[in-house]
Amino acid sequence: MDGTFNENDLSRVVEADRAHVWHHLSQHKPYETSDPRIIVEGKGLRVWDQKGKEHLDAVSGAVWTVNVGYGRESIANAIRDQLIKLNYFAGAAGSVPGAIFAEKLIEKMPGMSRVYYCNSGSEANEKAFKMVRQIAHAKYGGKKWKILYRDRDYHGTTIGCLSAGGQDERNAQYGPFAPGFVRVPHCLEYRKHEQEGAPVENYGEWAADQIEAVILAEGPDTVGAICLEPVTAGGGVITPPKGYWERVQEICRKYDILLHIDEVVCGVGRTGTWFGYQHYGIQPDMVTMAKGVASGYAAIACLVTTEAVFEKFKDQPEDRLNYFRDISTFGGCTAGPAAAIENMRIIEDEDLLANTLKMGERMMNNLHALMDKHKVIGDVRGKGLFCGAELVTDRVTKEPVPEKMAQAVTADCMAQGVIVGVTNRSIPGRNNTLCFSPALIARPDDIDQITDAVDRALTRVFG
Ligand SMILES: Cc1ncc(COP(=O)(O)O)c(C=O)c1O
Repeated sequence: MDGTFNENDLSRVVEADRAHVWHHLSQHKPYETSDPRIIVEGKGLRVWDQKGKEHLDAVSGAVWTVNVGYGRESIANAIRDQLIKLNYFAGAAGSVPGAIFAEKLIEKMPGMSRVYYCNSGSEANEKAFKMVRQIAHAKYGGKKWKILYRDRDYHGTTIGCLSAGGQDERNAQYGPFAPGFVRVPHCLEYRKHEQEGAPVENYGEWAADQIEAVILAEGPDTVGAICLEPVTAGGGVITPPKGYWERVQEICRKYDILLHIDEVVCGVGRTGTWFGYQHYGIQPDMVTMAKGVASGYAAIACLVTTEAVFEKFKDQPEDRLNYFRDISTFGGCTAGPAAAIENMRIIEDEDLLANTLKMGERMMNNLHALMDKHKVIGDVRGKGLFCGAELVTDRVTKEPVPEKMAQAVTADCMAQGVIVGVTNRSIPGRNNTLCFSPALIARPDDIDQITDAVDRALTRVFG
């Protein structure tokens, strides 16, 4: 190919992509004989590919990110204005949008107090892990350094985050992992029959008690924190069972263990409250967030802590090491908080939390109706606009459908112009849950278009 490049010549773009771009999460062999998909444009809930084909995006940018929808000029303008004034200065200094967004964010998070900026969910979680380790060294003589994480949860892509990763297929071939991360069982009630000793009643309390059992086995004086998703996202849309979170909080308080909630997916409106944990009346010590903070208009992630956690990093100023000795170069980019302020304004002015609850209910009703019609749907789960349908070959044994069949459903939806998600090379033998998480601006017709497409796909794939 010669060096001239016209971005409107999309066949040329496809060739450049095929020749040089290494796509995320993709097996590239098929691109030798078929074109990679290029997403060219987006507006509202819809995107257009290189062939001009329109898609309703039911997964907000494939990974639950574009919460306020595509094509928001006001966010683009806020970023532009900020970049012209000041694009960057390292986060050891403050910035105007950084201070303003921190104040607005803390207003939405009673009990929380400090915002640490960085630029990805993985990075925010790494920083929380580092804080736990530093607290262990500074306050507990090196003890309380272990971090608990849960089977089926995901916290990011780095070796540190994968060490806290509860998805064995996603982790496969990337070990050895960092020491000090200890797994606790999942809380998926639909699959409690696979957990030894699980009761018929009060499953939520029982699932939380399994965490206590791990703490006791490890020694409470060695455990510093537990990191959990409020609703497990990529691990199969696992909504917590009744009584679970309240008991988790009790256990954390009993053993002086920091509660770190990973809101990278659920944060900033996805479940119909500002944060997923706010459905359960609990008080975390650390909260991480990324995707929806600026809806993907700029890269931004935050680690938010209580004042009590913050205090541990400034209470002995005579100690040379008594501060969080961490930096994120791009955590000083001002585009992130500038975009986040406008993103939050949109959610408030357009009443998107209420819309999320309303549309989430419609999505769940539609999915239940599909369940009545299609035996292959074994369970539907969801909170706000984060919903899932688990596919099984038999409702009694709950045998999961093979991953290929679940993928055939998403491929059929894609051919119909609707992009839906599915658990993907995450949990061995359990990649069988469809996922629906459209932008929070979805209207009833959009929700119906998504579930109508799934209805047709299930009929074609399973009869
Ligand atoms: C719950 C959760 N935490 C953390 C991450 C990692 O975020 P990032 O990809 O921004 O590093 C993800 C990504 O999907 C996630 O789902």
